[in-house]
Amino acid sequence: MNRTKKPKIIVTRAVPRSVANALTDQFSVLFSLKDTPFSNKELKHAFENADGVLCTVSDRITSKILDSKKRRASIISNYGVGVSNIDINYCKRLGVVVTNTPNVLTHATAEIALFLILAVSRRTTYLEAKLRKKLWKGFSIVEDLGLSLYGKTLGIIGMGRIGQATAKKVISSLGMEVVFFNRSLVNDLSFDAKQLKSLDEVLRCSDVLSVHAPGGGQEPILTQRHFALMKKSAFLINTARGDVIDQQALINSLKSGQISGAGLDVYLDEPEVPRELLFLDNVTLLPHIGSATNETREAMGMLAVNNLKAHFFDNDYPSRVV
Ligand code: DGY
Repeated sequence: MNRTKKPKIIVTRAVPRSVANALTDQFSVLFSLKDTPFSNKELKHAFENADGVLCTVSDRITSKILDSKKRRASIISNYGVGVSNIDINYCKRLGVVVTNTPNVLTHATAEIALFLILAVSRRTTYLEAKLRKKLWKGFSIVEDLGLSLYGKTLGIIGMGRIGQATAKKVISSLGMEVVFFNRSLVNDLSFDAKQLKSLDEVLRCSDVLSVHAPGGGQEPILTQRHFALMKKSAFLINTARGDVIDQQALINSLKSGQISGAGLDVYLDEPEVPRELLFLDNVTLLPHIGSATNETREAMGMLAVNNLKAHFFDNDYPSRVV
């Protein structure tokens, strides 16, 4: 690439000022004037009119969007670690590079998992709402009780970076025991956690279950059958992706008392949150804020910019997916 002519990048969403400055330093950049997802038409136009597209987890990059004789973009720099919003196989076929932003959001996301574990086990969403509605009648010995976490078992599905960070925080701060299910053998952990042979075993013994597997699979990992195996007193936490869980089966299990509650940061069809969930007392619902801290969003942005620089200037990608 001739460095006298800066590569053109289209950015689909608002980004922190420091990230915008780092981008304009190296590239000719077209920023979006609104902070809402591009329509399919706008996305297609971006791919036909820029050398690279900087998008995020709410932009669905499907084969239809990529499939154009006029496509000019050769890289998708995703502002996010999860890439289930992108048709990765199609990118592979077309030779479109995809990069993401791992590592820098590990602790922020694990912090939100920890928050949700505490919130659901002590019913804080329901109890705070009760207080705000002036329905609290004062201290009671027998009312408003939750579940003690000390000595209880946290089951983790997917012992990758975020799963490990969550386990470590939960062991050191809450005194919980950790068991986990991971498709491949994990034997280099720096803390005490037991890998069980099957997902079913983890489900049966967990008091709290936290999912840390990437989305984008053909089928949800947790379905009605799985909820039926869980303890009735158990809580489910999801900070990964909405599609790792059969959302309707979860709602049914929460309503029937098959499990005790859930802490959710992600949903199947974001920003759609099923109405039934909104009316349940035994859930804490967050609007996909796992990585939403100033520090983390800036670090993610810098990584996304460095991936673009690597693509156009030196090939030394910090985090290339395909
Ligand atoms: C990610 O990066 O995948 C998060 O879900 C959004 O920050």
